[in-house]
Amino acid sequence: MEYFYQRVICKLYRIRQSIIGCLCTIYMRFKCWIWGVKLGNCSKFIGNMIIFRCPGSSIVIGDNCKFVSTSYGNFRGINHRCIFQTNTSNAKIRIGHNCGFSGVSLVCSESVIIGDDCLIGANVVIGDRDDHSDVYHTPYKPVEIKSGTWIGMNVCILKGVTIGHNTIIGANSVVTKSIPDNVIAAGNPCRVIKQR
Ligand SMILES: CC(C)(COP(=O)(O)OP(=O)(O)OC[C@H]1O[C@@H](n2cnc3c(N)ncnc32)[C@H](O)[C@@H]1OP(=O)(O)O)[C@@H](O)C(=O)NCCC(=O)NCCS
Repeated sequence: MEYFYQRVICKLYRIRQSIIGCLCTIYMRFKCWIWGVKLGNCSKFIGNMIIFRCPGSSIVIGDNCKFVSTSYGNFRGINHRCIFQTNTSNAKIRIGHNCGFSGVSLVCSESVIIGDDCLIGANVVIGDRDDHSDVYHTPYKPVEIKSGTWIGMNVCILKGVTIGHNTIIGANSVVTKSIPDNVIAAGNPCRVIKQR
């Protein structure tokens, strides 16, 4: 009896999730349109993502991507909503097809490019600048995450980093230098720990 009851609860939870997901996707499609974000087909949103696009800059998202901005959509826990921000007029964010994001923060002054089939875990922060540039001025350096990459939760990817194809970055890593294709890398600073 208890098992049956729990199955009903799970089923209702999933139905609730589907309804919330549909409503969020409709709302976020409208929000992307308002902010001039080019959004591909069949992308899904759970929760209300934050978008800020500086006039003149571009944010282009491929087909079939998923953006989770609440812990209902990722049981590892989302510390904040997905955030995409460009803050110069020539900044460009490019997201490929079939990517998944949970509470990712992506800030761009020049270029942040993410390939196809990338999974970006909960609370990952990616930026091509250091911010607080009035305190310590450092240059912008483009970031590229190539196709087939899996980034673990709470990873911080700093300016100038390229992450190679099919590479995995372990949870809580701080990536300060580029990482090659087909490896598993982790730690602070992030280093290759094995080949895939
Ligand atoms: C990177 C990862 C996939 C590696 O898994 P694995 O291949 O089973 O690796 P192992 O557990 O054999 O660890 C190999 C070595 O790397 C170290 N290591 C593994 N993950 C690490 C991490 N995140 N940070 C630092 N070191 C790590 C281990 O301590 C071990 O070191 P040792 O050889 O000195 O003992 C896994 O540890 C990980 O971080 N997964 C991410 C989970 C996640 O974030 N999911 C997203 C949810 S939203």
